[in-house]
Amino acid sequence: MTHVRRSRARDHVEVASRIAARLRRARRTRPSIDDSLDGDRLLGDLAVTPYWVAVRRRRIVGHLAGQLLDDGISPAYWVGLDGLSYDDPTVLEKILARAVRAVRRRGVVDWHVTVPDDAREIAALAPYGFTPTQRLGTLSRVVPERGAPPDVRYRRAGADAESLLARASDLVDLARGVHPTAPAEPLDPTILTWVAETDRPLGVAAAFPRLDQRGVRPGTWHLTTVAVEPATRRRGVGRALVTALVEDARRHGARAIDVTWDPTDATASSFWRALGVEETTVVASAALATPAAPRWPRRAPGPPASPAGRNG
Ligand SMILES: CC(C)(COP(=O)(O)OP(=O)(O)OC[C@H]1O[C@@H](n2cnc3c(N)ncnc32)[C@H](O)[C@@H]1OP(=O)(O)O)[C@@H](O)C(=O)NCCC(=O)NCCS
Repeated sequence: MTHVRRSRARDHVEVASRIAARLRRARRTRPSIDDSLDGDRLLGDLAVTPYWVAVRRRRIVGHLAGQLLDDGISPAYWVGLDGLSYDDPTVLEKILARAVRAVRRRGVVDWHVTVPDDAREIAALAPYGFTPTQRLGTLSRVVPERGAPPDVRYRRAGADAESLLARASDLVDLARGVHPTAPAEPLDPTILTWVAETDRPLGVAAAFPRLDQRGVRPGTWHLTTVAVEPATRRRGVGRALVTALVEDARRHGARAIDVTWDPTDATASSFWRALGVEETTVVASAALATPAAPRWPRRAPGPPASPAGRNG
Protein backbone atom coordinates (compact mmCIF):
# COMPACT_ATOMS: atom_id res chain seq x y z
CA MET A 1 0.00 0.00 0.00
CA THR A 2 1.37 3.39 -1.00
CA HIS A 3 0.25 6.64 0.56
CA VAL A 4 1.25 10.21 -0.16
CA ARG A 5 1.77 12.82 2.53
CA ARG A 6 3.47 16.13 3.14
CA SER A 7 7.18 16.00 3.94
CA ARG A 8 8.53 15.84 7.49
CA ALA A 9 11.98 16.74 8.77
CA ARG A 10 13.02 13.09 8.96
CA ASP A 11 12.39 12.66 5.20
CA HIS A 12 15.02 15.15 4.02
CA VAL A 13 18.07 12.84 4.10
CA GLU A 14 16.33 10.08 2.15
CA VAL A 15 14.89 12.52 -0.38
CA ALA A 16 18.32 14.16 -0.79
CA SER A 17 19.76 10.80 -1.74
CA ARG A 18 16.91 10.24 -4.25
CA ILE A 19 17.71 13.65 -5.76
CA ALA A 20 21.41 12.76 -6.05
CA ALA A 21 20.53 9.43 -7.70
CA ARG A 22 18.15 11.15 -10.12
CA LEU A 23 20.83 13.62 -11.24
CA ARG A 24 23.43 10.86 -11.59
CA ARG A 25 21.08 8.80 -13.77
CA ALA A 26 20.18 11.81 -15.92
CA ARG A 27 23.86 12.59 -16.47
CA ARG A 28 24.57 9.06 -17.66
CA THR A 29 22.57 9.65 -20.84
CA ARG A 30 22.90 13.46 -21.01
CA PRO A 31 26.51 14.34 -20.11
CA SER A 32 25.85 18.11 -20.05
CA ILE A 33 23.57 17.70 -17.05
CA ASP A 34 25.49 18.64 -13.92
CA ASP A 35 25.21 16.11 -11.09
CA SER A 36 27.42 17.84 -8.54
CA LEU A 37 25.60 18.63 -5.30
CA ASP A 38 26.27 20.64 -2.18
CA GLY A 39 24.72 18.28 0.39
CA ASP A 40 24.31 20.84 3.17
CA ARG A 41 22.71 23.34 0.86
CA LEU A 42 20.33 20.70 -0.52
CA LEU A 43 19.24 19.68 3.00
CA GLY A 44 18.75 23.38 3.83
CA ASP A 45 16.59 23.83 0.71
CA LEU A 46 14.49 20.78 1.54
CA ALA A 47 13.95 22.05 5.07
CA VAL A 48 12.31 25.25 3.82
CA THR A 49 10.39 23.83 0.82
CA PRO A 50 7.35 21.73 1.62
CA TYR A 51 7.08 18.73 -0.70
CA TRP A 52 5.22 15.46 -0.99
CA VAL A 53 6.53 11.98 -0.38
CA ALA A 54 5.05 8.64 -1.37
CA VAL A 55 5.60 6.07 1.34
CA ARG A 56 5.31 2.29 1.10
CA ARG A 57 6.15 0.00 4.00
CA ARG A 58 7.80 2.95 5.75
CA ARG A 59 10.13 3.54 2.82
CA ILE A 60 10.02 6.61 0.60
CA VAL A 61 9.25 5.44 -2.93
CA GLY A 62 8.68 8.82 -4.59
CA HIS A 63 8.78 12.55 -4.06
CA LEU A 64 7.44 15.72 -5.67
CA ALA A 65 8.90 19.14 -4.93
CA GLY A 66 8.01 22.22 -6.94
CA GLN A 67 7.59 25.93 -6.74
CA LEU A 68 4.51 28.09 -7.18
CA LEU A 69 5.29 31.01 -9.48
CA ASP A 70 2.53 33.58 -9.36
CA ASP A 71 2.70 36.42 -11.87
CA GLY A 72 -0.76 37.58 -10.81
CA ILE A 73 -2.32 36.44 -14.11
CA SER A 74 -1.69 32.72 -14.50
CA PRO A 75 -0.07 31.09 -11.47
CA ALA A 76 2.02 28.09 -12.45
CA TYR A 77 3.60 25.23 -10.52
CA TRP A 78 7.14 24.41 -11.67
CA VAL A 79 8.90 21.15 -10.89
CA GLY A 80 12.62 21.14 -11.64
CA LEU A 81 14.75 18.33 -13.03
CA ASP A 82 15.21 16.65 -9.64
CA GLY A 83 11.79 17.57 -8.26
CA LEU A 84 10.07 14.31 -9.16
CA SER A 85 11.02 10.70 -8.51
CA TYR A 86 8.93 7.53 -8.44
CA ASP A 87 9.79 3.89 -8.14
CA ASP A 88 6.96 2.66 -10.37
CA PRO A 89 3.96 4.03 -12.34
CA THR A 90 1.55 3.54 -9.42
CA VAL A 91 3.65 5.89 -7.30
CA LEU A 92 3.66 8.48 -10.09
CA GLU A 93 -0.12 8.34 -10.37
CA LYS A 94 -0.66 8.69 -6.63
CA ILE A 95 1.77 11.50 -6.13
CA LEU A 96 0.44 13.52 -9.08
CA ALA A 97 -3.17 12.98 -8.00
CA ARG A 98 -2.38 14.26 -4.50
CA ALA A 99 -0.39 17.25 -5.75
CA VAL A 100 -2.91 18.26 -8.41
CA ARG A 101 -5.64 18.69 -5.79
CA ALA A 102 -3.40 20.90 -3.69
CA VAL A 103 -2.08 23.09 -6.50
CA ARG A 104 -5.56 23.53 -8.01
CA ARG A 105 -6.78 24.79 -4.64
CA ARG A 106 -4.08 27.44 -4.84
CA GLY A 107 -5.40 28.64 -8.19
CA VAL A 108 -2.66 27.13 -10.32
CA VAL A 109 -3.52 27.25 -14.02
CA ASP A 110 -0.61 25.31 -15.52
CA TRP A 111 1.99 23.00 -14.17
CA HIS A 112 5.34 22.26 -15.71
CA VAL A 113 7.60 19.34 -14.97
CA THR A 114 11.21 19.20 -16.18
CA VAL A 115 12.50 15.74 -17.09
CA PRO A 116 15.61 14.47 -18.86
CA ASP A 117 15.10 14.44 -22.64
CA ASP A 118 14.16 10.77 -22.63
CA ALA A 119 11.20 9.29 -24.51
CA ARG A 120 10.24 7.01 -21.60
CA GLU A 121 10.16 9.85 -19.08
CA ILE A 122 8.00 11.97 -21.37
CA ALA A 123 5.68 9.05 -22.17
CA ALA A 124 5.19 8.32 -18.45
CA LEU A 125 3.68 11.79 -17.95
CA ALA A 126 1.49 11.77 -21.08
CA PRO A 127 -1.52 9.97 -19.52
CA TYR A 128 -1.83 12.87 -17.06
CA GLY A 129 -2.21 15.51 -19.78
CA PHE A 130 1.46 16.55 -19.98
CA THR A 131 2.93 17.38 -23.38
CA PRO A 132 6.43 18.69 -24.16
CA THR A 133 6.32 22.49 -24.43
CA GLN A 134 9.98 23.37 -24.18
CA ARG A 135 13.14 21.55 -25.12
CA LEU A 136 16.44 22.59 -23.57
CA GLY A 137 19.88 21.85 -24.98
CA THR A 138 23.49 22.78 -24.42
CA LEU A 139 26.00 24.17 -26.90
CA SER A 140 29.23 23.11 -25.26
CA ARG A 141 31.58 23.94 -28.10
CA VAL A 142 31.89 26.75 -30.60
CA VAL A 143 29.89 25.75 -33.65
CA PRO A 144 31.88 25.66 -36.89
CA GLU A 145 30.97 28.39 -39.32
CA ARG A 146 30.12 27.45 -42.88
CA GLY A 147 29.93 29.80 -45.86
CA ALA A 148 28.18 32.83 -44.34
CA PRO A 149 27.71 35.69 -46.82
CA PRO A 150 31.03 37.62 -47.03
CA ASP A 151 29.43 41.08 -47.09
CA VAL A 152 27.89 40.64 -43.61
CA ARG A 153 29.71 42.08 -40.57
CA TYR A 154 29.26 40.85 -36.99
CA ARG A 155 29.75 43.06 -33.95
CA ARG A 156 28.78 43.33 -30.30
CA ALA A 157 25.90 45.82 -30.03
CA GLY A 158 26.36 48.98 -27.99
CA ALA A 159 23.78 51.66 -27.35
CA ASP A 160 21.61 50.17 -30.11
CA ALA A 161 21.24 46.83 -28.26
CA GLU A 162 17.83 47.69 -26.80
CA SER A 163 16.15 48.52 -30.12
CA LEU A 164 17.84 45.55 -31.84
CA LEU A 165 16.57 43.19 -29.14
CA ALA A 166 13.06 44.60 -29.41
CA ARG A 167 13.07 43.84 -33.16
CA ALA A 168 14.52 40.36 -32.51
CA SER A 169 11.83 39.61 -29.88
CA ASP A 170 9.14 40.64 -32.37
CA LEU A 171 10.58 38.23 -34.96
CA VAL A 172 10.73 35.39 -32.43
CA ASP A 173 7.14 36.13 -31.33
CA LEU A 174 5.94 36.21 -34.93
CA ALA A 175 7.68 32.88 -35.59
CA ARG A 176 5.71 31.48 -32.62
CA GLY A 177 2.47 32.88 -34.02
CA VAL A 178 2.22 35.53 -31.28
CA HIS A 179 1.31 39.05 -32.29
CA PRO A 180 3.95 41.18 -30.55
CA THR A 181 2.25 43.87 -28.51
CA ALA A 182 4.21 43.88 -25.27
CA PRO A 183 6.62 46.79 -24.84
CA ALA A 184 10.30 45.83 -24.75
CA GLU A 185 11.47 45.01 -21.24
CA PRO A 186 14.21 47.19 -19.75
CA LEU A 187 17.59 45.90 -20.86
CA ASP A 188 19.44 43.71 -18.38
CA PRO A 189 23.03 45.02 -18.32
CA THR A 190 24.46 41.46 -18.22
CA ILE A 191 22.98 40.64 -21.64
CA LEU A 192 25.57 40.28 -24.37
CA THR A 193 24.01 41.24 -27.69
CA TRP A 194 25.50 40.61 -31.14
CA VAL A 195 24.27 41.96 -34.43
CA ALA A 196 24.81 40.86 -38.06
CA GLU A 197 24.58 43.77 -40.47
CA THR A 198 25.35 45.18 -43.88
CA ASP A 199 24.11 48.76 -44.14
CA ARG A 200 21.20 47.62 -41.92
CA PRO A 201 20.74 45.01 -39.18
CA LEU A 202 20.03 41.51 -40.53
CA GLY A 203 20.08 39.45 -37.37
CA VAL A 204 20.46 39.63 -33.60
CA ALA A 205 21.49 37.13 -30.93
CA ALA A 206 21.80 37.62 -27.17
CA ALA A 207 22.90 35.66 -24.10
CA PHE A 208 23.37 36.23 -20.36
CA PRO A 209 24.85 34.29 -17.41
CA ARG A 210 22.39 31.90 -15.75
CA LEU A 211 21.74 31.85 -12.05
CA ASP A 212 23.09 28.83 -10.20
CA GLN A 213 20.65 25.92 -10.33
CA ARG A 214 20.91 22.23 -9.53
CA GLY A 215 21.49 20.21 -12.69
CA VAL A 216 23.06 23.13 -14.56
CA ARG A 217 26.84 23.31 -14.89
CA PRO A 218 28.32 26.38 -13.12
CA GLY A 219 29.32 29.02 -15.66
CA THR A 220 26.42 28.22 -18.00
CA TRP A 221 24.95 31.09 -19.99
CA HIS A 222 21.51 31.20 -21.53
CA LEU A 223 21.08 32.14 -25.18
CA THR A 224 17.86 34.08 -24.93
CA THR A 225 17.21 35.31 -28.45
CA VAL A 226 18.34 34.62 -31.99
CA ALA A 227 16.50 36.03 -34.97
CA VAL A 228 17.36 36.76 -38.57
CA GLU A 229 15.33 38.97 -40.91
CA PRO A 230 13.06 36.74 -43.05
CA ALA A 231 14.60 37.79 -46.40
CA THR A 232 18.11 36.81 -45.22
CA ARG A 233 17.40 33.34 -43.80
CA ARG A 234 19.10 30.10 -44.88
CA ARG A 235 22.31 31.89 -45.90
CA GLY A 236 24.32 31.00 -42.80
CA VAL A 237 23.81 34.30 -40.94
CA GLY A 238 22.11 32.69 -37.92
CA ARG A 239 24.91 30.12 -37.58
CA ALA A 240 27.66 32.76 -37.90
CA LEU A 241 25.92 35.07 -35.44
CA VAL A 242 25.57 32.36 -32.80
CA THR A 243 29.23 31.40 -33.36
CA ALA A 244 30.34 35.00 -32.74
CA LEU A 245 28.13 35.31 -29.66
CA VAL A 246 29.33 31.99 -28.19
CA GLU A 247 32.99 32.97 -28.68
CA ASP A 248 32.39 36.31 -26.97
CA ALA A 249 30.43 34.72 -24.10
CA ARG A 250 33.37 32.33 -23.59
CA ARG A 251 35.71 35.30 -23.38
CA HIS A 252 33.35 36.60 -20.66
CA GLY A 253 33.66 33.32 -18.73
CA ALA A 254 30.87 31.15 -20.18
CA ARG A 255 31.69 27.43 -19.98
CA ALA A 256 28.55 26.29 -21.75
CA ILE A 257 25.57 27.92 -23.39
CA ASP A 258 22.07 26.58 -23.09
CA VAL A 259 19.15 27.24 -25.38
CA THR A 260 15.44 26.47 -25.24
CA TRP A 261 12.95 26.05 -28.03
CA ASP A 262 9.41 24.99 -28.72
CA PRO A 263 9.51 21.30 -29.76
CA THR A 264 6.72 21.92 -32.28
CA ASP A 265 8.82 24.59 -34.05
CA ALA A 266 10.47 22.61 -36.86
CA THR A 267 12.76 25.49 -37.91
CA ALA A 268 14.14 26.07 -34.42
CA SER A 269 14.59 22.31 -33.89
CA SER A 270 16.52 21.91 -37.18
CA PHE A 271 18.57 25.04 -36.54
CA TRP A 272 19.74 23.98 -33.07
CA ARG A 273 20.43 20.42 -34.16
CA ALA A 274 22.46 21.72 -37.13
CA LEU A 275 24.51 23.80 -34.71
CA GLY A 276 25.33 20.75 -32.61
CA VAL A 277 23.15 21.28 -29.54
CA GLU A 278 23.08 18.37 -27.08
CA GLU A 279 19.47 17.98 -25.99
CA THR A 280 19.35 17.71 -22.21
CA THR A 281 15.90 18.26 -20.72
CA VAL A 282 12.26 18.72 -21.67
CA VAL A 283 9.60 20.75 -19.91
CA ALA A 284 6.31 18.86 -20.04
CA SER A 285 3.25 20.99 -19.25
CA ALA A 286 -0.38 20.34 -18.39
CA ALA A 287 -3.27 22.79 -18.14
CA LEU A 288 -5.24 22.64 -14.92
CA ALA A 289 -7.69 25.43 -15.75
CA THR A 290 -10.45 23.26 -17.16
CA PRO A 291 -12.09 20.82 -14.76
CA ALA A 292 -11.61 18.00 -17.27
CA ALA A 293 -7.83 18.33 -17.48
CA PRO A 294 -5.68 16.48 -16.77
CA ARG A 295 -7.64 13.31 -17.41
CA TRP A 296 -6.71 10.68 -14.89
CA PRO A 297 -6.64 7.14 -16.12
CA ARG A 298 -8.55 4.66 -13.97
CA ARG A 299 -5.30 3.00 -13.02
CA ALA A 300 -1.66 3.63 -13.67
CA PRO A 301 -0.49 2.76 -17.19
CA GLY A 302 1.09 -0.66 -17.54
CA PRO A 303 -0.17 -4.21 -17.14
CA PRO A 304 -3.19 -4.71 -14.86
CA ALA A 305 -2.23 -5.61 -11.32
CA SER A 306 -4.28 -8.81 -11.24
CA PRO A 307 -6.51 -10.96 -13.46
CA ALA A 308 -9.48 -9.48 -11.60
CA GLY A 309 -8.27 -6.03 -12.67
CA ARG A 310 -8.01 -7.22 -16.25
CA ASN A 311 -11.58 -8.47 -16.33
CA GLY A 312 -13.15 -5.79 -14.24
C1 LIG B 1 16.06 30.18 -36.58
C2 LIG B 1 16.73 31.30 -37.43
C3 LIG B 1 17.45 32.25 -36.47
C4 LIG B 1 17.76 30.64 -38.36
O1 LIG B 1 18.52 31.67 -39.00
P1 LIG B 1 19.22 31.42 -40.45
O2 LIG B 1 20.15 32.52 -40.71
O3 LIG B 1 18.16 31.14 -41.44
O4 LIG B 1 20.02 30.04 -40.15
P2 LIG B 1 21.25 29.45 -40.99
O5 LIG B 1 21.13 29.84 -42.44
O6 LIG B 1 22.52 29.82 -40.30
O7 LIG B 1 20.96 27.90 -40.83
C5 LIG B 1 21.87 26.98 -40.27
C6 LIG B 1 21.28 25.59 -40.38
O8 LIG B 1 20.08 25.48 -39.58
C7 LIG B 1 19.12 24.65 -40.24
N1 LIG B 1 17.94 25.46 -40.62
C8 LIG B 1 17.81 26.80 -40.52
N2 LIG B 1 16.56 27.18 -40.93
C9 LIG B 1 15.92 26.05 -41.27
C10 LIG B 1 14.61 25.79 -41.79
N3 LIG B 1 13.71 26.78 -42.00
N4 LIG B 1 14.26 24.50 -42.02
C11 LIG B 1 15.13 23.48 -41.80
N5 LIG B 1 16.40 23.68 -41.34
C12 LIG B 1 16.77 24.94 -41.08
C13 LIG B 1 19.81 24.14 -41.51
O9 LIG B 1 20.47 22.92 -41.19
C14 LIG B 1 20.82 25.24 -41.76
O10 LIG B 1 21.95 24.80 -42.52
P3 LIG B 1 21.81 24.67 -44.15
O11 LIG B 1 21.10 25.91 -44.62
O12 LIG B 1 23.24 24.57 -44.58
O13 LIG B 1 20.99 23.45 -44.37
C15 LIG B 1 15.67 32.03 -38.31
O14 LIG B 1 14.90 31.09 -39.00
C16 LIG B 1 14.75 32.93 -37.51
O15 LIG B 1 15.05 34.09 -37.26
N6 LIG B 1 13.55 32.42 -37.13
C17 LIG B 1 12.58 33.22 -36.37
C18 LIG B 1 13.03 33.44 -34.96
C19 LIG B 1 13.21 32.12 -34.21
O16 LIG B 1 12.38 31.27 -34.31
N7 LIG B 1 14.33 31.99 -33.50
C20 LIG B 1 14.68 30.77 -32.80
C21 LIG B 1 13.98 30.73 -31.49
S1 LIG B 1 14.61 29.45 -30.50
